Amino acid sequence: MSTITIEDSLGITFCNRQQVAIERGEGCYVWDDAGNRYIDFTAGWGVTCLGHSHSCITDAIYKQALKIIQNPNSGFTYSPARARLLQVLKNVLPGSLHKIYFVNSGAEANDAALKLARKITGKTKVIATGGSFHGRTFNTLSVSGGKENTNRYLPSMPENCFVRFGDYDELASVLDVNTAAVIVEPIQGEGGVRIPDLNYLSRVDQLCKQRGVLLIIDEIQTGFCRTGKFFASQHSLVEIRPDFMTMGKGIAGGFPFAAFAVSAPVDALLNRGDHGGTYCGNPLGCAVAAAVVGFLIENRVAEKVAASGAVLLAELQQLQRKYPSLILAVRGRGLLCALELSSDKVVQTLTQTCLEKGLLVTPTRNRIVRLIPYLLIERAEMAAGLGILDAALSSVVQSV
Ligand SMILES: Cc1ncc(COP(=O)(O)O)c(C=O)c1O
Repeated sequence: MSTITIEDSLGITFCNRQQVAIERGEGCYVWDDAGNRYIDFTAGWGVTCLGHSHSCITDAIYKQALKIIQNPNSGFTYSPARARLLQVLKNVLPGSLHKIYFVNSGAEANDAALKLARKITGKTKVIATGGSFHGRTFNTLSVSGGKENTNRYLPSMPENCFVRFGDYDELASVLDVNTAAVIVEPIQGEGGVRIPDLNYLSRVDQLCKQRGVLLIIDEIQTGFCRTGKFFASQHSLVEIRPDFMTMGKGIAGGFPFAAFAVSAPVDALLNRGDHGGTYCGNPLGCAVAAAVVGFLIENRVAEKVAASGAVLLAELQQLQRKYPSLILAVRGRGLLCALELSSDKVVQTLTQTCLEKGLLVTPTRNRIVRLIPYLLIERAEMAAGLGILDAALSSVVQSV
């Protein structure tokens, strides 16, 4: 029986699967179980920032696994690997962030931030933005997308509300004395690479400070050089001073790992037992994350991403001029880019055609195809991927 047959019959599926079984990867490429090669413009949903099987990651896994994978009593004991990661991360975090805690996934980082914000303020209302994505736990779901999404799992934190992303005035109008926190992405990733004005986040930050509301910045998709700065909130014209910042995905280049950092005033209000978990801050994840973050710093990857992102965006704009009936808009910052297409059907057809021609892209809600290559992409690899995209668009334009 084939991989696909076994998975379809024995595994639970919550999504439409692409008909490809990925066997291995290297750099920008992956191979299926029949030996066919594909260019990966998904970076595993923005995770494999150094590409597939980078020696920096495989060496860190191997060396740490030979030493220890999980500490006795987990977080009750200290870990040199954890201490190293804390030091490396502290060098790149925005100045207001004082202490860091390691968790296993982006959703868990946001879930913890939301839970702790409610606890320390004694309030229950959280304001989120329409089209957001913060995870699939019950708590994070209640601040993701919009009411049509949260109403699928009732009752879902009934006081939480959504405002238009990028609309400062609407946010100011609903932020009241019952509000515990505002949670926002610097750029909405799953929402379709939606980029707000450069002064939006700083105005939200100032408003939260004025009204005593906590600000949670979700850098899970945008952090770790993805947008051409170490964190996307650093594109703001005025420095942001969040109370919580959540991180995941690129932090460990593919190893499941995430984190949240808090300001000193928030840290002062946290107590023993407020959060924890069996694998939180496990030495293996910490060693991999320290290697990845160290690599990003030493190799000035953010600057390289800013340059290659500008090339990618210009090339995509060129494709928009070539296929105006299919591509309605092009958006991007750094190597987080999106095409807004004419319909969801076109998204499906284009994604499938790209796959058949050897390119993996990410279809997203609302007529979007995201292009999220690994951060070290070389010009020739980008040109090869864009050549396939061009050919796929050409055959889609003839078929619709
Ligand atoms: C901005 C943002 N927050 C949170 C999450 C959830 O992260 P995870 O899938 O690791 O739980 C995602 C995942 O796509 C995301 O893009």
